Amino acid sequence: MTVISRRNFIKGSALIPMISPMAAIARLSNDNNYKIDETKAWILKARNSIPTTKDAFFQTAGIGPSPKSVMEAVSEKMHFQNEGPVNPQITEVMSVIEPNLRKHLSEAFGSHENEVALTHSTSEGINIASWSINWEKGDEVLITNQEHPANIIPWYSLSTRFGVKINRLNFATGTDIIDEIQKKVNNKTRMVSIPHVSRNNGRTLTREESEQIANILRKRNVRYHLDGAQGPLCVPFNFHELECDYYSACGHKWILGPKGTGAFFCRKEILDSTRLTWTGSHSHSTMDQKGNYELIPEARRFEFGTRGLATFAGFDEALNWNESIGISRILKRIDDLVIYAIQNWTNRGFKVISPTSKNQRSGVFVIQLPNESNGWEIYNSLRVNESTFTSPVDGPNHLRVAIHFFNTQNEIKKTFDIIEGYCKK
Ligand SMILES: Cc1ncc(COP(=O)(O)O)c(C=O)c1O
Repeated sequence: MTVISRRNFIKGSALIPMISPMAAIARLSNDNNYKIDETKAWILKARNSIPTTKDAFFQTAGIGPSPKSVMEAVSEKMHFQNEGPVNPQITEVMSVIEPNLRKHLSEAFGSHENEVALTHSTSEGINIASWSINWEKGDEVLITNQEHPANIIPWYSLSTRFGVKINRLNFATGTDIIDEIQKKVNNKTRMVSIPHVSRNNGRTLTREESEQIANILRKRNVRYHLDGAQGPLCVPFNFHELECDYYSACGHKWILGPKGTGAFFCRKEILDSTRLTWTGSHSHSTMDQKGNYELIPEARRFEFGTRGLATFAGFDEALNWNESIGISRILKRIDDLVIYAIQNWTNRGFKVISPTSKNQRSGVFVIQLPNESNGWEIYNSLRVNESTFTSPVDGPNHLRVAIHFFNTQNEIKKTFDIIEGYCKK
């Protein structure tokens, strides 16, 4: 494959509005006033405050770039704590970081404050959910065929240790997930763990689908967990509206928080029937040396040990930063850019792998490469030669071009031009 010359996306042209096939794009949009205005001050301002966006960054579904204010909050709190980690004036300030963040997450994402545990990753939450049951040989779990390894390996581990059987639901674009659940859930099924948004094909489980799934599973006493690594700030997320039992999220993707931050949501009605596996100091409200203890009656019982308070302060700042822009404005802008990307890629005669319908599409945008080109090779050439960051996914000729609100129409077009050029060689 021949490599074409390096392009600088931002300098000069990237934020200039382009003459585009607006009429065609408008067909995909329900909004008659649909128009992408790249020159809006809020986009320029946000983009300027995220250092990584000097490059064409389409890898938010892998790891999100943090704004400067987030990094400053982490750094400031690290230094502050180190001035005297046991000094009352310092511990007083540090000790409110976690409660404030739990409260903030619950307000932003539709849960009660006592339903949130602060974690370090989505994977940590998935493990809390997967170890929440006393598994027995022959028990079954349902996952999908569109998972990240983080929602596969914990189940493989339970399978190896306890003989738990794993069945797969077809969550490919266009399939009927409710029908899949109805066909595959049985008397042995004890847990369903599926993506809110798939990292692999970008499909979003809609609120209506999630409600229906919860309804089916609750009647059968089957636990329902959503892997929300790609959820918050990529698509609308409200914990109670989805009606799942557990939801595992992270701060370090679409929320643009510090790396190593996450949240686990647990419906308060099932807290006490949720087995606690990993625990330690801070999980309990009382204990003695004779074996008696009581756990905190809140989801924060899943937290234990000494924790990275400065990074949690950065997570809180990431929420503030997003809210200062406006979460609905961010989500609308992502959707506008995704509509543009669908139109631009299909106008070239190529296929989009992600769903294109309003409630199922997301910023996790996946294309099929022309001429059966290899996703890994294209990803690597873009990364090395063009400072353009995309990601290969499971399909050998698929490429994920994750679109966040700070991306621009012009850099999407330029990236597609380059990809098309590569694939012709
Ligand atoms: C759907 C999904 N689940 C889980 C993970 C793992 O996330 P974390 O690194 O926060 O554990 C990822 C990461 O890309 C993901 O896309």
